[in-house]
Parts: sequence; C-alpha cells; structure tokens
Amino acid sequence: MINKENIEIRPYKIADYSQVVDILILSFESKFKKLTNLETNNLKSYMMDALLFDNQPQDGYFVATIKNEVVGVVKATYSNKAKVNNTNKTSFFYLEKKYGLRNVIKLRFAMILLSDSTNKGEYYIEHIAVSERARGHGIGTKLLEKVFDEANRLDEIDKVTLYVAGTNQGAVKLYERIGFKTIKKRKSFLMQLVFKKRTWFFMSKYLNGESRPKLTLNRYWWLGLLGLIGFVYINDIRNVFIHGENYFILLNLLWFSWFIYFIPSKR
Ligand SMILES: CC(C)(COP(=O)(O)OP(=O)(O)OC[C@H]1O[C@@H](n2cnc3c(N)ncnc32)[C@H](O)[C@@H]1OP(=O)(O)O)[C@@H](O)C(=O)NCCC(=O)NCCS
Repeated sequence: MINKENIEIRPYKIADYSQVVDILILSFESKFKKLTNLETNNLKSYMMDALLFDNQPQDGYFVATIKNEVVGVVKATYSNKAKVNNTNKTSFFYLEKKYGLRNVIKLRFAMILLSDSTNKGEYYIEHIAVSERARGHGIGTKLLEKVFDEANRLDEIDKVTLYVAGTNQGAVKLYERIGFKTIKKRKSFLMQLVFKKRTWFFMSKYLNGESRPKLTLNRYWWLGLLGLIGFVYINDIRNVFIHGENYFILLNLLWFSWFIYFIPSKR
C-alpha cells in the first residue's frame, strides 16, 4: 500500500540514475521497442552506457521517493539554464559494436527528435514518469507541483510547457486537471515514422493564471518586415526615391508591416 505521507520529492542525485532509467524505460517502453530489437535489459544497459538520459544533477531534475526507493522522475529545463555535461560517455564505436549500428543510430535520432528547443520565459518539461505500480496516488501531481515551485522561483519564467502524445489521454487529463491548456496540435510525419504517433499536443500553463498566449513580437519580425516591403511594395519604394513621391507611403507601409508581425507567439 502506498501511503501519501511517505512520498518525498527531492532533487535528483547521481546514485538515483539506475532507478530513474528503469522508470523511464518501462514508462516509455512502447516508444523504444518500436525502434530497436533490444530486450528491456539490453535497452537499459544501452541507456546506461550511452547516457541518453542526463545523469548529472541539475536545476529542474527531481525524483519522487517512497522510503528511499525512487518511484517517479521529472526533468524540466529553460533557455538560460547552465549547461551540464554528462560524465563518462561511452564512445560511438563501443556502442555500435555492443548494440548494433542500427540500434545506436535509431535511438540517437529518436532522442534528438524528442528534444525541443526552449523559448525564453518557458520552463519546459522534458519528461515525467511514475513507476507503474505507484501511479494514481498523486505522485505525478506532486512532481508537477515541484516544477511549478521551481518555475516560480526563477524571475524570467512565465509559463510551464510540455509535449504529450495525442494518444496519451491519461496524461492529457492529468495536465488539464492541473490547469494546462493545449496551445497547438502538431501533426508530425517524422514522429509518425519513428514512434508511430502522429499527433502531439503542445500544452502550457501560465504562472500568473493566464490561459492564452500573450501577444508578442516574433523574434525575426524585422526579417519579415524587410521581406514584405521588398516583395509587395518595391515599386512604391523606388518611386519615393527615384520620382520623389510622398514619403507618407513609406510610413504607411511600415505601420502595415509592423501590425502583421504583431502575431501571437507560437508558444
Ligand atoms: C502520467 C503519469 C506521470 C501520471 O503519474 P501519476 O502519479 O499516476 O499521477 P497522479 O496520481 O498525480 O494523477 C493521476 C492521473 O494521471 C492520469 N493517468 C495517466 N496514466 C495513468 C495511469 N496509468 N494510472 C493512473 N493514472 C494515470 C489520470 O488522469 C489520473 O487522473 P485520475 O486520478 O483523475 O483518474 C504516469 O501515469 C506515467 O508515468 N505515465 C507513463 C509515462 C507518461 O506517459 N508520461 C507523460 C509523458 S508527457
């Protein structure tokens, strides 16, 4: 029986790594099994050798324990987080010899696909998992609460975000209960090819309770502005300079372009 009083959420330590990998492999086994012909034990040994999951303690990396046994893990990241290098990475040639070239390449590629660049202001949950026998006792909720505590501690963060497979309705339900909203549904041919899951939900929850993305300027708005002016109004601009037409046209164009690029941020 799981007693809620005994659940502790604490920062991850190197000594937790083996248990963390066990939880992640068993929780996402179906994803990995579609990629490789490795048995669960071999898959674990590969993950340990290749360090596909981070093994160094760092901000945003927490475990849930019950009487010192790790039963859950969450890892979140943000754009300004100091880079932490994993130790003792095994060479590609060693891995290839031991596990086969196809497996090594496919797993590496899959991890790259699953990683996502993080925008400013965003605390992004890379993964969250609870061991199967401990699910449904509030551990996932506690891990998420810890992530929000951390996000609140950091000045520059205004939202917590994550990706979840559209088929993972249990997890979606949990995130919605906590207040996450689906911001966009992404259909990805590559994800379909690699993980047999085509639709992914990008969900976010704002720390100040907002539910809509804020209107923000796209980072590359000025490129769009130049492009628009160049493409659509090249003749008008030439006329201003060559035939001395009214400069007011330029001002109007600037306003027009400016407003189009006042688009909601994609996250
Ligand atoms: C999603 C997950 C982390 C939730 O952890 P948890 O400790 O069971 O979460 P909680 O007990 O706080 O909340 C339970 C809710 O989680 C959801 N849930 C998802 N999968 C579940 C499962 N297999 N068993 C129980 N609840 C599950 C349910 O909506 C449940 O809500 P309910 O109690 O109203 O029915 C856990 O189910 C898990 O590890 N799943 C596999 C890995 C995964 O899918 N991770 C998310 C990737 S984005």
